[in-house]
Amino acid sequence: MTEESARGGADGDESGVVRRDRFSGGPARSFLSSLAADERIFEADLEVDRAHTLMLAEQGIIDEETAGSILTALDAIEVAGHDSLPDGEDVHEAIETAVIERVGADGGKMHTARSRNDEVATCIRYRLREDVLDAIETTLALRGSLLDVADTHAETIMPGYTHLQPAQPTTVAHWALSYEGAVRRDTERLLEAYARINESPLGGAAFAGTTFDIDREFTASLLGFDGVVVNSMDAASSRDFLLETTQALSTHATTLSGLAEDLIIFANRGFVSLADDYSSTSSIMPQKKNPDTLELVRAVAGDAAGNVQGLTTTLKGLPRAYNRDLQRATTHAWETVDAAVEASEIAAGAIATAEWNADALAAEAGAGFSTATGVADLLAANGLPFRTAHELVATAAENSAEHGSADYDALDAAAEDILGEPLESHVDPDAVVDALDPAESVASRNSQGGPAPEATTPQLESGHDALGADESTHSELAAELETAHTALREEVNDYV
Ligand code: ARG
Repeated sequence: MTEESARGGADGDESGVVRRDRFSGGPARSFLSSLAADERIFEADLEVDRAHTLMLAEQGIIDEETAGSILTALDAIEVAGHDSLPDGEDVHEAIETAVIERVGADGGKMHTARSRNDEVATCIRYRLREDVLDAIETTLALRGSLLDVADTHAETIMPGYTHLQPAQPTTVAHWALSYEGAVRRDTERLLEAYARINESPLGGAAFAGTTFDIDREFTASLLGFDGVVVNSMDAASSRDFLLETTQALSTHATTLSGLAEDLIIFANRGFVSLADDYSSTSSIMPQKKNPDTLELVRAVAGDAAGNVQGLTTTLKGLPRAYNRDLQRATTHAWETVDAAVEASEIAAGAIATAEWNADALAAEAGAGFSTATGVADLLAANGLPFRTAHELVATAAENSAEHGSADYDALDAAAEDILGEPLESHVDPDAVVDALDPAESVASRNSQGGPAPEATTPQLESGHDALGADESTHSELAAELETAHTALREEVNDYV
């Protein structure tokens, strides 16, 4: 198409509005409008408008002077801010109206060779990249806090639980590293989602492409995207990137909820003391110090899961190509990312400032005969079938004076019962005494990934290595956005 036929985006109306004619009012007006929610993509939309306008000029679809006037108007609109926009069904229409108000009818050339459908999809991806980078950054900070705890507490013995019952002694480092591994995978999922967000739908137009000789790769690179979503119908319609991101955030929120729950239980048992900054009190009971922040972190997982459900249900069964349902899909992702970023920051801060009570942890580490498995393992290592060893230890615990636990004498009596021989004919008594000691019990569980300090050291090293690598990736991605933003500004400056 020629420049002449590109004229008339506002059908020659100099009054300075995007013409809606019979669609301009009515009781559904505010229901239709996303203008308020679109504040979140105001800056993104201006960048997308700039990139598109530059491309139209470079391709000779609009003349350079018109492009200059449009780009100048966009700068003024940015300074005035979202609140100063004229009325519009959404931010795209309002900005276009504001451009036409400033430039005249030729301002309407900005909307040549595109639609709000590819425009909004591009704006969401543009903004979501920044939000996901923020989310990734909070996961990195949390991993750092957890690694610090593990560094400090490699030898701090604590009770470990299954079914919330005392199970086997472990260390605070081993516990912290268990969450470090989970949060590391949360980071990986967000990085993978980022790669699929980072493709440009711009130029897909309504869904069916355009007759104009556009350059989609050029707008994609101006906006810092890795490439384009090639199929124009896919570009305008698909929101799987939104679903994938919301799911990844929901998974992270679920990890956080478990971490919060553990800390709430540990605080309740006096194992850990939360910093005042991460606690609250009661309006009536003056003595109370409550783990309210962690309870709120725990609740974010519910909100996030609800948003995944809402988004999935909205997207399910939508026909190709664009449907207005998509307008209500987007807010699920914004809500989720905001809540997850906040929860992740709070969790990182709570972990970094919590104090671990080593004495209380050590006193409870052996509770509930938590060394029983280690004693059975020792007997098995000395030739007894594990099932017989298990029975011997259970019998000792059952018959001992302190019901449910067992000392050397109780084990010896059980050996006479079950094997018809004293314990020392099977195993060195000193080794049994060691196995009954929680610290020795931990030190002996040095299998790969286990709690013995010699087994947590390599876990710590790999945690630090992975954190360093992900921090570099995060910085590179953030720098790519910054570089694209600066380069786009320089291109714009050639016109204004
Ligand atoms: N506000 C709309 C959204 O968020 C923009 C696209 C409107 N397109 C349309 N064909 N009605 O999805």
